[in-house]
Amino acid sequence: MAYIGIIGGSGLYDLMAESKKVDVDTPYGKPSDLIEIGEVNGVEVAFLPRHGKKHTIPPHKVNYRANIWALHDLGVERIIGLNAVGSLREDYKPGDIVIPDQYIDFTKRRELTFYDGPQVYHISEADPFCPEMNELFYQTAKNLKIPVHNTGTYITIEGPRFSTRAESKMFRQFADIIGMTLVPEVGLAGELALCYSVIASITDYDVWSEKPVDAREVMTIMKQNDKKVRDILFNALPRIGKDRKCACSLRLDNAKV
Ligand code: ADE
Repeated sequence: MAYIGIIGGSGLYDLMAESKKVDVDTPYGKPSDLIEIGEVNGVEVAFLPRHGKKHTIPPHKVNYRANIWALHDLGVERIIGLNAVGSLREDYKPGDIVIPDQYIDFTKRRELTFYDGPQVYHISEADPFCPEMNELFYQTAKNLKIPVHNTGTYITIEGPRFSTRAESKMFRQFADIIGMTLVPEVGLAGELALCYSVIASITDYDVWSEKPVDAREVMTIMKQNDKKVRDILFNALPRIGKDRKCACSLRLDNAKV
C-alpha cells in the first residue's frame, strides 16, 4: 500500500530506479499506464505517468477518473501532480517553479466527477490544494535555492491547441499560469477526500508575449526543469507526514445532499 501518489506530466517518466509495476482496473476503465510502486529517498510512492509512459495520451483524452480512482485503490491518501505550464505574467519566468493555490476551469468536455447520481454531492472547492504539502514544497524549493512562487492561479484550458493571443491576454486578467491537465484531476482528488498539491514548472510565456509558444520549446525547457522537480521531491517526500493534520480528509463532510 503506497501512501503517496505522484502523477507525472510531460517530461518526467523515470522517477524510480527500481519499481514493481501494477496493472489496476477501475469502474472507469484503465488508468493512463501501469502504476509503478517503488521508493524515492526511502519513501514508498506510487507513480503514474499522466500521458502514458510513451506520451501517447493527449490532455483531453486522459482518463482522469481512472487515474485518481486507481491511486486511491492502492491506498494513496496524498497526491502530487507534476505539470508543465505557461506563464501569464512577466515575473513568473520560464524555469521557475510555482506551487498553485487556486485554479480556474476553462475545460469544455471532460468527465469532472465521480458523483453522477443517484447520490448527489456538492464539494466545497474554495481551497482546492493541500495547505500542508503546498507549504512543504515551497519551503523545500526555497531551501534548495530554486526560484519558486508559493501562490498562483492555474487556468486549465481544454487543449490540445495552445491559446490565441486574444485568449491569452484575457486569461492574464485573472490567472498567473496556464496548462491543460490540472482539471479535472484536482477536483476528483478532492471528491475522494485526498490531499492534492501541484509542483508546476514554467516552460514558456504563452502567447501574450512576443514569440508564440510551441510544443518543442515546452519539451526542451521541461527537460531542463526536470532536475529541479526531482530535487524538490527527493528532499520533501521524507517530510510528508502520514498523519494528515490538514482539512483535506474532511472534504465530504456536509457535502451530501
Ligand atoms: N503547457 C505548457 N505551456 C503551456 C501553455 N502556454 N499553454 C497551455 N499549456 C501549456
